[in-house]
Amino acid sequence: MFEQIQAPKADPILSLISEYKNDPRTTKIDLGIGVYRNADGITPIMQAVARAEQQLMTTETTKAYQGLIGDERFNTAIQTLLLGGTSAMARASTLQTPGASGALRNLADLLAFARPKATVWISNPSYINHRPIMQRAGLAVQEYPYLNMVTKAVDETAMLDQVAQLGPDDVLLLHGCCHNPSGADLSLDAWQRIGELAQQNGFLPFVDIAYQGLGDGLDADAHGLRLLADAVPELMISTSCSKNFGLYRERTGAAILVGNDLGQAQNGRAKMCELARGSYSMPPSHGAAIVSTILADDELNSLWRAELDSMNLRINGLRSALVDSFRTASQGESYDYFGRHKGMFSLTGLSDAKIARLKAEYGIYIVGGGRVNIAGLKLNQVETLVAAVVAVDVDVAVDVAVNV
Ligand code: LMR
Repeated sequence: MFEQIQAPKADPILSLISEYKNDPRTTKIDLGIGVYRNADGITPIMQAVARAEQQLMTTETTKAYQGLIGDERFNTAIQTLLLGGTSAMARASTLQTPGASGALRNLADLLAFARPKATVWISNPSYINHRPIMQRAGLAVQEYPYLNMVTKAVDETAMLDQVAQLGPDDVLLLHGCCHNPSGADLSLDAWQRIGELAQQNGFLPFVDIAYQGLGDGLDADAHGLRLLADAVPELMISTSCSKNFGLYRERTGAAILVGNDLGQAQNGRAKMCELARGSYSMPPSHGAAIVSTILADDELNSLWRAELDSMNLRINGLRSALVDSFRTASQGESYDYFGRHKGMFSLTGLSDAKIARLKAEYGIYIVGGGRVNIAGLKLNQVETLVAAVVAVDVDVAVDVAVNV
């Protein structure tokens, strides 16, 4: 059987990790995968996480199975972090999942069970894993217009025109904040309007929020989601602790259902448990135990929030430095969008040929499509990066050569 199987094309984000590692140049810059790095270029274990782990070493008494829903303390804490203060809290139910990708898949499986004819609408562009996850669950996928590639801002008029056409067989997949890959977020007015349209036309909103706290802060980043949660009868949410707790490899996330009432949300979660039992069975425990320990302890909670704020500050400082440096190097304002974007990413729109040249000539690693991870940059690399991008970007001959 295996002789019929061709090795698939490497994942465009994950393959950059090993390419970068194998590059011997000391001047190389990794702007690929979405991980936060500190000023020394390291992805540190957050202090709050390390301290929670120490506590767990002494308090954890067993490694026996936890059960299909995972850690209920974690589920409640994460639901509160996202939906606290909304009326939706009283009609929501949460399942611990292996990361947000696990949550996306659980929710997709639930959709395929409950609404097999559903079409999931994803933004153009969207997170690279949205389409395959939905399609592998058997769902149809279509794209709605999102980014204006000239202004690098959301084209809300075009988007809302499309959203207004959606009906009961449609699911609208939105990015809660810090849009991946573009960094361009929806305005609160757009969130409000989407809530009204969902109520009027019956489509199901589905919010993927993997970067809460890395845009404008924990509450501000959940504002749009909270508006929607208060407005609509039903909502699906996938979330991740990879970025805001730095727990990437611990695969810690959650799938949240907001239903017409609590009973319906709980039934949906029970169905997701059954579906999960047929694949990975139960979520891993360690990451969720860390998060629930932090969120239950006032001191650790404050420490974590302060650490998250300082990560945010560093990213926003890098964004300002990029804008200043691009203005000087390009003698214009066409890269000012770096200052308007939120979170780790900005989509530059650089062509594949230009990305290849940046890698070959300058050792700068950028994901295909032109997404850069600002959080991967050191302050003293800003000028090198800017000079390289401007040099390559003005050279139209690069793209022409490829198109011949
Ligand atoms: C990313 O977008 O770089 C991250 O979310 C990593 C991943 O799983 O794709």
